[in-house]
Amino acid sequence: MDDRHHTADYKQHFSPLLYLQSFYSGIEGNPMQDFLTTKMQFWHEVFVDGKIKGRRLLDIGTGPSVHSVISASPHCDEIYLTDFTPKNRAALKQWLQGDLQHSFESFFRFVVNSEGKGESWDERENQLRGKVSGILHIDLRQADPLAPNIMPTFDVITSSLCLEAAAEDITEYENMAGRVAALLKEDGHVILYGNIGEKLYTVGDHSFPLIRVKEDQVKSVWVKCGFSITEWKQKVYPEFPDTAVTGLKGSFMLVAKKLGKPEHT
Ligand SMILES: C[S@@+](CC[C@H](N)C(=O)[O-])C[C@H]1O[C@@H](n2cnc3c(N)ncnc32)[C@H](O)[C@@H]1O
Repeated sequence: MDDRHHTADYKQHFSPLLYLQSFYSGIEGNPMQDFLTTKMQFWHEVFVDGKIKGRRLLDIGTGPSVHSVISASPHCDEIYLTDFTPKNRAALKQWLQGDLQHSFESFFRFVVNSEGKGESWDERENQLRGKVSGILHIDLRQADPLAPNIMPTFDVITSSLCLEAAAEDITEYENMAGRVAALLKEDGHVILYGNIGEKLYTVGDHSFPLIRVKEDQVKSVWVKCGFSITEWKQKVYPEFPDTAVTGLKGSFMLVAKKLGKPEHT
């Protein structure tokens, strides 16, 4: 694979612990509290009624953070986390073993409090650990992103801020969406979290580009890939502290269902 692509920067410059400190250091009292609450609320609302469920869930570009699968965890049996960089996969393995030098307590607390079933945050974290069935390499630039692993298609696919980080333009985003679609069963759901307006984020002394995607572009890409859009949530922030991110105006969540092939008549 051509390593002039900006994705190559992730292997060299992306520090999992600095990323977690910068963006997932806890919800309450964080200058990004509104933003983090919205993100977790979106995930909660999508999964709370139990309509989106399935045996096997794939999270694409998990990075070092498991926040994107906490709300989903009661609704599936096996969860596969993925990332492009060995360092992020190592961080996820450390979390799995309870050795990561970072706590997701406030994210687990947010979810169990929102669900209101009396579950404790650490019970939920252990439940999620018990469901993680693989931490896999992924490269969305490859025709088969999970190669060399060969996996059956998944019932549910989640992803947060990955396609817009991995793609260099909207055409590549569309190609990547097509590859994600091929990993999903017919009638399965894809749930994507993204930021509006963000073009750059900084981790330590390195900045990573994101492509800016608009609502109509995101929807049209997934429709072209054979999906029906079932939900679009969005929140715009009047003012966002321009610290580690540049241009952020809001966030969105897309829920889309993969359509089956029309039957022959
Ligand atoms: C902004 S981070 C998002 C991490 C996490 N999902 C989150 O929401 O915080 C972007 C992620 O995309 C991954 N990534 C970069 N290039 C990729 C590629 N070609 N294929 C798949 N993932 C890639 C990075 O390793 C990184 O973990």
